[in-house]
Amino acid sequence: SLCSLPYSFSPTFTPIKRIVFMHPGDFTPVCTTELGEAALRAEEFTKRGTKLCGFSCNDSDSHKGWIKDIEAVTNGEVKFPLFCDPNRDAAAKLGILDENLKDAKGLPLTVRSVYIIKPDKTIALMMTYPASTGRNFDEIIRVLDSLQLTANNSVATPVNWKQGEDVIVNFPLSNADADEKFGKDGYRIVEVPSEAGKVLDKNYLRYTSAP
Ligand code: BEZ
Repeated sequence: SLCSLPYSFSPTFTPIKRIVFMHPGDFTPVCTTELGEAALRAEEFTKRGTKLCGFSCNDSDSHKGWIKDIEAVTNGEVKFPLFCDPNRDAAAKLGILDENLKDAKGLPLTVRSVYIIKPDKTIALMMTYPASTGRNFDEIIRVLDSLQLTANNSVATPVNWKQGEDVIVNFPLSNADADEKFGKDGYRIVEVPSEAGKVLDKNYLRYTSAP
């Protein structure tokens, strides 16, 4: 069964994004650093309208004990819920059990995944890492910024994009639509060999400044 500790968490989603951090297990080194980082950066997530929770196949006593370790080691206060799934019911349904990663009893652990869940309860992003590699929280925050920006603005973010950098005009937009949306001089078309000498309804690589 699922429970949340030590903070309450409503299963009803509000118009706020949720991030779920699946972690392979309590009292493991990489996971300890990750949840400590999540705690330390809680404000950055709050600022982006995002609520956090952890998830593993441990029970509430285990989570309670581990939270003390996380807080002692990282100085972060774990204010977000950690789901408990000791019977692996939810993990099995979600298909997040790694059959190559077992606990001391030989039971499978969960993969090291991040889900970003949209207000409509659909998943915007899933990232899965091996047990040996901790997640990159700068990247998770960067993705949140991209999701925020691209949700309503007819733009997409290019490779390695960071806050403040130029963005891409959404591929489905025709040039006429882009003229209307950004102004004729409000975006630039990148010349590519396949489009040379052609007058097109839509050039595919176009940049504009971040809205
Ligand atoms: C870790 O977080 O360090 C870890 C988790 C599961 C298996 C091995 C290591």
